Amino acid sequence: MKLLLAVVLGIGTLWGAEVVEVGDRFKNSRSCKACHLHIVKGWEGSWHAKSHYQNDEYFQATVDYLSRKTRRSSNGIQVECATCHNPRISVTEAGMDYEIAAVMELDKGSKVNQALQSDVISEGINCVVCHNIDKIHDELDETKRGIHRVEWTPSGVMSGPYEDAKSPYHKVVHRDFMDQNPNQLCLVCHANDRSFEGLVFTDMQSELQDGSQKCVDCHMGEKERGVAATLKIDHGKAKEREIRSHGFKGAHSTEMWRDALNLDVKKAGQEIAVTISNPQPHNIPSGFGARELVLVVEYKQGMKTLKSDTLSLTQSYESKRKKPTIPHLAEKMGKDMSIPANGKRVIKLPAVGGTTSVEVSLFYRLVNDEVRSILELKDPIWSEKKFIASTILKL
Ligand code: HEC
Ligand code: HEC
Ligand code: HEC
Ligand code: HEC
Ligand code: HEC
Repeated sequence: MKLLLAVVLGIGTLWGAEVVEVGDRFKNSRSCKACHLHIVKGWEGSWHAKSHYQNDEYFQATVDYLSRKTRRSSNGIQVECATCHNPRISVTEAGMDYEIAAVMELDKGSKVNQALQSDVISEGINCVVCHNIDKIHDELDETKRGIHRVEWTPSGVMSGPYEDAKSPYHKVVHRDFMDQNPNQLCLVCHANDRSFEGLVFTDMQSELQDGSQKCVDCHMGEKERGVAATLKIDHGKAKEREIRSHGFKGAHSTEMWRDALNLDVKKAGQEIAVTISNPQPHNIPSGFGARELVLVVEYKQGMKTLKSDTLSLTQSYESKRKKPTIPHLAEKMGKDMSIPANGKRVIKLPAVGGTTSVEVSLFYRLVNDEVRSILELKDPIWSEKKFIASTILKL
């Protein structure tokens, strides 16, 4: 009986998110510059550095739209998004009490407002997000992400890839998810992104076809010789190490898109067959909803264009009221048009009489027309077409 009770209690005390305060000496990347300037510079150019409400127009517009549509406070929603976008926040949920206080304008000075205004989170996903993760609780269910999946080290203890590092500024601990198994770290947040209705609109964890391929190999680059710290700790010199770049280059980087997918065009009877194949281990588009591939097909006779078609390969989202909406309010989504991981999609188009060549080009856009117009996004980066590949079929 006692044993049974212990088992029941054991299950009852499953691990839950705990906040660990970040000391002033560690909270901003500025404090790391004296010895890790090259790393801080790399990270500053990444979109991890822009994941905060103030720094990403798309994120901000999404939060504001959600707040209007659900009649909840923007702050309450920001706390929910902070799970992955600002995981060092000092509150893990806002709750109904806060919503009531916010409506009555009694929220000034509340814990939630203080947490959102704190400069601990203003840098978004900074050094002390990844390097203060102590444990990743993969035994928890799929929906627990970000804050709810990790345990933090005490302030000032940096988890890193090396077994033998020493630093005069902070303590260090080696962790396998910084070295042997880094996908575990990335999938703390890059998985199970879901709408308020519980619809999972992206899950890179289940997409990942070849688990032996590491996210860091492509998004932080191959390991190279360099220094982890510029401090002269090795006989009057900085210590040489195997390092990676902290640029986390991805969907926002034009140069990453060139040849990310392969294009092939063939004549198949009365049709033109365009094959888009994806050599990457995850779907494309992936990552966030409403991303888009744009296929432009030009039918030519000599130099003259007879006809031009533009096809959009994207995802559409439908709200509870069956209206077009943004990913976070979707109850249902349309047919998945992405190119599967290590797979392909064939698109057949009718041939046009008199054509002597068919020119096909493929582009990528961060936000499709529908969601861009719902959110009224202004910055041209959201609609800009990034070139992926092109090819010509001579007939
Ligand atoms: C999104 C997670 C993430 C963020 C944010 C991040 N790092 Fe890292 N960092 C890593 C990973 C993963 C490695 C291990 C790379 C490897 O060697 O495979 C690493 C490695 C390092 C190393 C060892 C040397 C190297 O480059 O491999 C240092 C030092 C370091 N990071 C410092 C920083 C500092 C300073 C910041 C803030 C400007 C920062 N990191 C932000 C994930 C992160
Ligand atoms: C006074 C210099 C100094 C400052 C400031 C400093 N570090 Fe370090 N850090 C080091 C040295 C030295 C090492 C060890 C380098 C080596 O062994 O190659 C190191 C190693 C690391 C590692 C790798 C640990 C491992 O075990 O793999 C991480 C991660 C790291 N620092 C993060 C940070 C962060 C984040 C900050 C800012 C909050 C910071 N450091 C500030 C000197 C510094
Ligand atoms: C704490 C949560 C978290 C962790 C851990 C994390 N990411 Fe991210 N990542 C994000 C968020 C949130 C964004 C989007 C930020 C934005 O666009 O405002 C993002 C964006 C990215 C992007 C897109 C950049 C672009 O230009 O579009 C890449 C690539 C990326 N992360 C790779 C990684 C890799 C590789 C790792 C593991 C080493 C990792 N991330 C770990 C939350 C995380
Ligand atoms: C073999 C290389 C490779 C590996 C491994 C890889 N990626 Fe990618 N990823 C790419 C390429 C190429 C693109 C398309 C260009 C871009 O966005 O960088 C991409 C795109 C992305 C995007 C933007 C997706 C979109 O369609 O908008 C995110 C986010 C991302 N990767 C995260 C990850 C994460 C997280 C992992 C590990 C689970 C990972 N990647 C593993 C190569 C890779
Ligand atoms: C499970 C972790 C997680 C949660 C919770 C989360 N996000 Fe994200 N979000 C991500 C990751 C990872 C990315 C980067 C994917 C990519 O770049 O393709 C991202 C990217 C985005 C983007 C695209 C940004 C860009 O620059 O292209 C928007 C917008 C966004 N999230 C809005 C939100 C909002 C609003 C909330 C809260 C209601 C939220 N997210 C909650 C993980 C999360």
